[in-house]
Amino acid sequence: MCSIIGYKGNEHASSILIEGLKKMEYRGYDSVGIATIKSGKLLTRKGVGKVAEVNKSLGLDELPGNLGIGHTRWATHGGIVDSNAHPHLACDSTIAVVHNGIVENYDELKDELTRSGHVFKSETDSEVIAHLLEEYFEITQDIRLSMIFTCKRLTGSFAFVAIFNSSTMCGARYDEPLIVGVGNDDYFLSSDILGFLNYTDRAIFLDNRDIVIIDDSDISFFDFNGDRISRRITQVAWELGDADKGKYAHHTLKEIHEQQNTIVKSMKQNKKTLERFCDIMTRAKNIYITGSGTSYHSALLAKQIFSKSKIHVETIMSSEFQYSSDLLDENSILLAISQSGETADVIQSVKSAKAMGAKILSIVNIPTSSLARLSDSYLEVNCGPEIGVAATKSFTSQLALLYYVTDIIGRKSNGISTSKDMLVRAISEVLELDSKIERIANQIKGSRDVYILGRSLHFPVCLEGALKIKELSYIHAEGMAAGELKHGPLALIDNGSIVIVIHPNDSTYVDTLSNIHTIKSRGAKIVGISNKKNSIYDYQITIPTISEFLYPLIEIIPLQLLAYYLAIGNNANPDYPRNLAKSVTVK
Ligand code: G6P
Repeated sequence: MCSIIGYKGNEHASSILIEGLKKMEYRGYDSVGIATIKSGKLLTRKGVGKVAEVNKSLGLDELPGNLGIGHTRWATHGGIVDSNAHPHLACDSTIAVVHNGIVENYDELKDELTRSGHVFKSETDSEVIAHLLEEYFEITQDIRLSMIFTCKRLTGSFAFVAIFNSSTMCGARYDEPLIVGVGNDDYFLSSDILGFLNYTDRAIFLDNRDIVIIDDSDISFFDFNGDRISRRITQVAWELGDADKGKYAHHTLKEIHEQQNTIVKSMKQNKKTLERFCDIMTRAKNIYITGSGTSYHSALLAKQIFSKSKIHVETIMSSEFQYSSDLLDENSILLAISQSGETADVIQSVKSAKAMGAKILSIVNIPTSSLARLSDSYLEVNCGPEIGVAATKSFTSQLALLYYVTDIIGRKSNGISTSKDMLVRAISEVLELDSKIERIANQIKGSRDVYILGRSLHFPVCLEGALKIKELSYIHAEGMAAGELKHGPLALIDNGSIVIVIHPNDSTYVDTLSNIHTIKSRGAKIVGISNKKNSIYDYQITIPTISEFLYPLIEIIPLQLLAYYLAIGNNANPDYPRNLAKSVTVK
């Protein structure tokens, strides 16, 4: 959603903050701001735009001081204007705050604070935190008490960092991530380890209801009741910081091209952890799978993958979970799939499933995420940081891992486990089609609508392909089960339509071919993704022949590339699609 960062040490804070914010821009990016403290004076600059642009025009990294906070915003409350950008200041400009999350009771708090004389300068929910801290500090003259009283008044979800002109930095979290980076002589507070990994690999992952206070002499931790707590330092892997674009123009393109390695990595699991995970699954009476966006498409595929091993599962979209959650009980498991492990809809689903006695399994990319912590057992997809907002490599990694789990549970000897080399070859062949796909994208980039059709296992891939095209290129795209075309959507097809068909030569081939004839006779242009040549296609993307069951792993890649090049053709930035954020931590 938003990213927050704080720094207290001996270095020039503002340049460190800007560097950290650039690494976390994937979390939200409509405006940016920083505040520092120099000789007891609070200085702030903020504006609308991406970090590099605003920094260039306002010189954010020129603010002096060794203590500061920074923020990139993804607007929820209040428009995208300078005054709503963080940091937000208390009335007397002695306290500045950056916040990620939603303060649900901000209206009521704002009324109360306004009545006691506080003047608000923004339309955000976040600003109440600065004024609450000021109010309680005036009464108590104690930063620790002000933090505790403020946290107790907030409902909703939050991670915030505040700086006081007395040279103190504080943070608190509830249902939003906040991590302390511990350097040699300095401390960081950040939404993601990427915010400080260039400086230190020592991190403290705060728990819900934790408060951290860093002053000139000490770092101390408290819970919301004011009781002192201790938190352990974790050494995090440096390679998690490998978030450079390398030779690629965009993170998204780099991440698409990493997939021949990442799918193999996802199957490298600790034996004991994997056994425990599979054991919980096999014992469950009912299995439900949930996820959002791309991860939900993995869940839909998982349902089909598991059913081939006679394991019946139900899928529930995380944002819809609350309306059907009474299905779960203590004999159920909920398998939650999430790259970030922080998506609010997913976390909410898991919490309600837990409350009903269900066991929680999860598949995550971030082992320190809230979802992993809430789970009875979790597996990591190990695909490395995914910076592009639209999920690409994390999707195929989730799928590969789900196939692998099915092999273990179903004791299969001819599943993905024995096909790794063949898959790597197939993926690299598909990736070599990059420039061919770019040419096709250039032919169809002016289209208003794109339809993607396929049957059986290919259907969830159609949904995922359409999501990629929508997210990246802003072209309306719809994924459909090919057999459903005749039940309505056919009315939309005419000689201006572009229809992409996932059409490998497998058990779905003949039926899908007859759908293609129906579309073709209405003048639509057909893009065929197939391993079998067919002159019915106007454009063919030829994929290699692999085991029928595993096609989803390779056929999504041409769709990812197509979406990427459609974005480029339509002058959209594929790494940072408008209005979207990688980690959506609001419901
Ligand atoms: C956001 C992103 C999507 C992503 C979804 C789920 O909406 O824009 O690309 O698929 O969140 O993310 P998760 O981290 O839970 O897999």
